[in-house]
Amino acid sequence: MGEKRIALVTGSAGVLGLAAVRGLLEDRIKVIMADIDGTKLFRSSADIDGDTHPVVFDVGDAQQVFEAVSTIKEEIGDIDILVNNAGILSTNKSSATTPEEWQRVLRVNLDGAFYLSKEVIPGMKKKGWGRIINVCSLAAKSGGITAGTAYSTSKGALMSLTFSLAAETAAFGITVNGIAPAYVKTPMVMEQLTEKQRRDLLKMIPVGRFCEPEEFAYVVRFLANPFAGFITGEIIDQNGGLRFD
Ligand SMILES: NC(=O)c1ccc[n+]([C@@H]2O[C@H](COP(=O)([O-])OP(=O)(O)OC[C@H]3O[C@@H](n4cnc5c(N)ncnc54)[C@H](O)[C@@H]3O)[C@@H](O)[C@H]2O)c1
Repeated sequence: MGEKRIALVTGSAGVLGLAAVRGLLEDRIKVIMADIDGTKLFRSSADIDGDTHPVVFDVGDAQQVFEAVSTIKEEIGDIDILVNNAGILSTNKSSATTPEEWQRVLRVNLDGAFYLSKEVIPGMKKKGWGRIINVCSLAAKSGGITAGTAYSTSKGALMSLTFSLAAETAAFGITVNGIAPAYVKTPMVMEQLTEKQRRDLLKMIPVGRFCEPEEFAYVVRFLANPFAGFITGEIIDQNGGLRFD
């Protein structure tokens, strides 16, 4: 068997990030687990039995991203698969959103994906192979059922970044796609929403339940697979039928 591919998953200490890491490991991929929360990250990576490397940095800081990716390239190798999963939720609608909150959310959810993509694309172009997977959200097109203005906007812009990078890199064997989940069983849903919000949502979701993290991870694996090479600039909805388009 050839060299293992190398994936970088941001927000790896979180529930969806961790599920994606476990899924990619099953596909014999070496995984760099990145998160801003070192304590949680080292705890999670120690729990995982597989070829993982924890790296702590803030995706919203261009200099930290540059330094982290440079070190990874030197010590491990070029990144073949980038999963831009780190994200923060805010539920405030526009009138309650301060300029600071707006910047804080856009910085992580959008700027981070841009900085990382910019750093990994040259190596992918050289190899003639690459996968970028952006974790968007149904909130981008629903206007935010429970999500706020900054969050919904950040995910909409992340979808546009997906299309823009897909167009730019398609001729180099690189695919850039997004996943738009809604209501996966994570603290964002199980803790940050109220009991009433969860009850109301379950009535609205045709599938009648929340999404499992492993189901989300399966879509990451699918998009990262060599056989998904003809899919680019696509956003895969994963919302239990909440919205068709
Ligand atoms: N949970 C859902 O139902 C749902 C739905 C749609 C989209 N999403 C998206 O999925 C992604 C993962 O969500 P989750 O539910 O696992 O959340 P989570 O809070 O469990 O995980 C997010 C992780 O990102 C990390 N992070 C935050 N800021 C960072 C930064 N500046 N640099 C590096 N890491 C940072 C956090 O420390 C955390 O470990 C997010 O982008 C989220 O917006 C989640």
